[in-house]
Amino acid sequence: MNQYSKRMVIVHWLTLALLVIAYFLGDSLDEARHEGGVTTLAYLVHSLVGAAVLLLVALRLNFRRVDGTPPPLGDALMDRVAIGVHYLLYVVLVMLPVSGVALVLSSGVGKAVLSGDASLLPAKYTGVSSLPHNVHELLVSVLMLLVALHVLGALKHQFLMKDGLIARMSLKRNS
Ligand code: HEM
Ligand code: HEM
Repeated sequence: MNQYSKRMVIVHWLTLALLVIAYFLGDSLDEARHEGGVTTLAYLVHSLVGAAVLLLVALRLNFRRVDGTPPPLGDALMDRVAIGVHYLLYVVLVMLPVSGVALVLSSGVGKAVLSGDASLLPAKYTGVSSLPHNVHELLVSVLMLLVALHVLGALKHQFLMKDGLIARMSLKRNS
């Protein structure tokens, strides 16, 4: 085995696409909340996209267990770092949506979305909801940092080591 299974590849790239959408939707929610004009539909869509990320991670961990992974490619130390980054990515991919759900449940967002009444949306996250809000924001930054490290590693393999690493996460089969 020198490539990830097709379903692992599909879920990897689909997760990236959903994260980009969730990120920009989340950012625009924050902006709209401060400047006015925010809609409950935007909260619903952001929450659903985030929940889809959580569902995909659960599927992915199952596919990973069943299909296995190709053996490491580089040197022992950097392979360990890469495996550590992958592990942390999975942790954040679970914790980020979970903190989002906690935020919805602990603030007025859940009620506002269910009733479609934007006037119930909180102007500020105070009291119990401030914790999940801070955690959600912090995890977004941690995710961005980990993804940056991960992409830098992939680019190093691809263009400096020239070992064709990215083909391992491609639908095009080597053999
Ligand atoms: C992994 C997927 C997710 C990503 C990448 C993501 C990203 C973001 C970002 C960038 C923000 C803006 C943070 C800020 O600067 O204030 C945000 C806010 C928020 N997210 Fe998420 N999120 C995800 C999942 C979820 C889920 C699953 C839910 C709920 C079920 C959720 C609910 C919220 C809420 C309620 C806010 C606050 C918006 C506001 O400022 O009023 N998120 N998210
Ligand atoms: C342009 C962006 C990205 C590129 C070029 C990329 C590339 C790759 C490549 C080539 C691999 C296979 C590594 C190997 O063979 O050892 C991989 C694995 C992985 N990627 Fe990405 N990736 C990107 C974005 C992301 C994002 C956004 C996430 C999640 C937030 C992510 C999470 C993972 C994880 C967890 C693995 C390990 C798979 C496993 O063994 O379970 N990647 N990525």
